[in-house]
Order: sequence, then C-alpha cells, then structure tokens
Amino acid sequence: MVIGHSLRYALSLLNLMPTYTALQTQDPDIYNALMGEMRRQVEGVELIASENYISPAVLETMGTVFNNKYSEGYPGKRYYGGQEFTDIVETLAIERAKKLFRCEHANVQPHAGCPANVAMYFALLEPGDTVMGMDLSHGGHLSHGHPVTYLTKIFKFVRYGMKDVETGEIDYDAMRQVALKEKPKILLGGFSAYPRELNYAKMKAIADEVGAVTVMDMAHIAGMIAGGALRNPFDDGFDIVTTTTHKTLRGPRGGMILSRTAELGKKIDKSVFPGFQGGPIMQMVAAKAVAFGEALKPEFKDYAHQIIRNSKHLATFFMEKGAKLVTNGTDNHLMMIDCVTSFGIAGAEVETVLDRVGITLNKNMIPNDRRKPMDPSGVRLGTPAITTRGMKEKEMETLGAFILKAIEKRADEAALKNLHKEVEIFCKKFPVPGIS
Ligand SMILES: Cc1ncc(COP(=O)(O)O)c(C=O)c1O
Repeated sequence: MVIGHSLRYALSLLNLMPTYTALQTQDPDIYNALMGEMRRQVEGVELIASENYISPAVLETMGTVFNNKYSEGYPGKRYYGGQEFTDIVETLAIERAKKLFRCEHANVQPHAGCPANVAMYFALLEPGDTVMGMDLSHGGHLSHGHPVTYLTKIFKFVRYGMKDVETGEIDYDAMRQVALKEKPKILLGGFSAYPRELNYAKMKAIADEVGAVTVMDMAHIAGMIAGGALRNPFDDGFDIVTTTTHKTLRGPRGGMILSRTAELGKKIDKSVFPGFQGGPIMQMVAAKAVAFGEALKPEFKDYAHQIIRNSKHLATFFMEKGAKLVTNGTDNHLMMIDCVTSFGIAGAEVETVLDRVGITLNKNMIPNDRRKPMDPSGVRLGTPAITTRGMKEKEMETLGAFILKAIEKRADEAALKNLHKEVEIFCKKFPVPGIS
C-alpha cells in the first residue's frame, strides 16, 4: 500500500512523530503503513477491551538494541557472555513486578499471554491431568482449554460458569461439586469476556479441599489489580498469577508469571526456559520494566480507578437507553452488549457499522448464544484505551450517543459520513501518548 503526498502532509499537520527517517528512506511501503496506522489510532475511538496505548518511554524501549542480545537463562545464570546490562533490566523488571503485585517470584520472560499459560500448565501438570477453568461461553479464554487448542490433546479441561447470567454470579456450589468429582490439579480463574469479579477466597477454599493449585490468569484486569481498583488474588492466597503485559497494564506486548512463593517460582522458571521458550525478547523485558515502573506511580492508581468509573458510566448510559447488557452491568473495564435483543441486529453488523464511523470494538459470543462464533449475538467493548487518552464520564456519554446513532442510522450513508467526521474531531481533542 502506498500512501500519497497529501496524506503525509495531513499527517504532518496532525503533528505525528516524523522521526522514522531510516525506515522512510529504506522501506516506504512499511513506513506508509505505519503512518496510516498512527493516523487510525489518533482519529478513531479504540474500544477493544484488550487494547491500550503505551507511553512514549515504553514505546522507545521496545525499539532498542536490547533486541540484538541473546540472554538464555536468568540474571546471573546465563548461557552466553555480555549480560551486564540485560541482567540489570531483567532484575529491575522482576523486582518491580514483585512489588507491584505483592508476591515472592516473577518470571518476566513469557513472549505473550498464551505462552505464559502453556508454561504454567507444564510447570504444574503431568499429561492427562485435569484443569478446571471458566466456561468459554461465559467469558473464559481460548488458552483455558478451548477444543481448538493443542492443550486439550494433553490435559483434560472441566468447567465452571455463572449461576445466573442476569447478575454474573459464579455458581460456586456447582464449582465445588465438579471439583470434588473431577479432582483438578489446577483451579483456574480468568477470562476475556466476563464483566464481574471472581471471589478468590471461595475458589481458594474449594481448591484447598481437593488439593488443587490456584491460578489466576489476570491478563484482562492486571492494570486494575496493579492500581488497587480490583482485588489482588494473592491477597486471598492464590498460588500463581499469569498475565499479559499489554492490556490494562499498559506495557509492551508480552506475558509474565507471578508466584506466591519462591519454591513455586523455581518450577515456573524451569518450565519457561528451557522447558518451553528459548532466548527472552530482551527489549520487551526492558520495556516491561519501564511499564511496571509507571504502574508503581500514584498516577496509575487514578488511571486504574478511572477505567472502571468510565466503564460503569458507559454501561449505565446504554442500559438507560434500553440496551441489554450481559449480567446487566459491569464491575470491571469491559461490558458485553446483547445486540440482537438490544438493536435487532447481530454483533458483526454492529462491529461493521461502527468501523465505518471510526469506532473499533469486537463482535463476541454472549452466554447461551444461539449464533455461531463468527456471527455471534453480541459485542464486547472496554474503556482502558480511551481512559489512557484522558476521557472521563462526560465523554462516555458522547461516545455512547455516537454508538447508538451509528446503529440507528446504519442504512443512511450521508449520516454515517457526517458522524465519522464528528468522531474524528472529537478524538483529536484527546492525544494518544507517543503519537499526538
Ligand atoms: C485471559 C487471557 N489470557 C491469555 C490471553 C492471551 O494473550 P496473548 O494474545 O498475548 O497470547 C488473553 C488474550 O486475549 C486473555 O484475554
């Protein structure tokens, strides 16, 4: 794709970072795509619940010469020489992560969230062992044992879910009954499409009864836990916490595994390397350290709480206008709208019409959905990215109104065009860190 001179001029007017001079000269195709993506991020509203904007410092760190270094092993115990600076950054990442989440051990090397979960399973299980995780149709994640993943060829996955989809309350009695019957080795919390909080203390009690290790995959909610806006599973005695670092935690793309004790941490370290991965991606480890440093600052607490205030406000706005939300609200950063019940159209159609006005979210299955995964009944949206841009409750009402208007006017080309312009003007008032 080649983007012409007029777009480059428009971008320079937008004051986008014009500093990619080597790339621009050497590879205009990639450079132009990058400029297009920057523009998309500045001019549009990002409501995908798993996305965020990283800070200029994190962004800079990701593009550094730490990329050039092989560092198999761990600080002080590497397979290659020349590790005096990689050891500094990895140790800082580990120490900051431990402080942030109040645990004894951190492995900051997983390349992403799924590899972190795979390394965690192999650290704790033998082939054929059972894991009990959240029902995938109630919000659980693919890496918690979806039949399309290789994990199900090796381990057995059993489920718990909501007792009542109107409140989102988990059925802890049923969880206990299944646990007593199936004797899982891991009781796994975590989700990518569940708008409520888990009761870690209840889960821990059930796990203790059957001798299971408690693991929480906090990928979606790590930022709010770090900022004290949601409960920390370690405070209720959880053993292991896995996460991505690039969602609400606002770091580079990557994963991490935290352990309550140093002893569990030893098993995790062996499983990550050499069990599963090779060399760590050291520029990402360094960027994780920078992001954790940011998350330790008092401002991050405000950010974490504002994400939830925004999410609750937007959810209430939609419900007051008659929309049907899964569990009738939210306690975290995301919400799920039942589009078929609310608007008489499927989630994919809502996703498409919003794309046309510069608002990005994703279609999603809702609990007990009768439709197919590629054509589900709902959409999922979240507030982490727009909160990073500085939007607050007032802006949630503007955004909610944009969304409802786009759906209402979906057959009216001219109205959608005008709305797209309005969205663009609105967005430019809220700078994207590292771009505008
Ligand atoms: C709960 C949960 N775990 C794991 C992952 C996987 O993370 P990654 O895409 O970095 O592999 C996700 C990503 O959406 C997630 O939501």
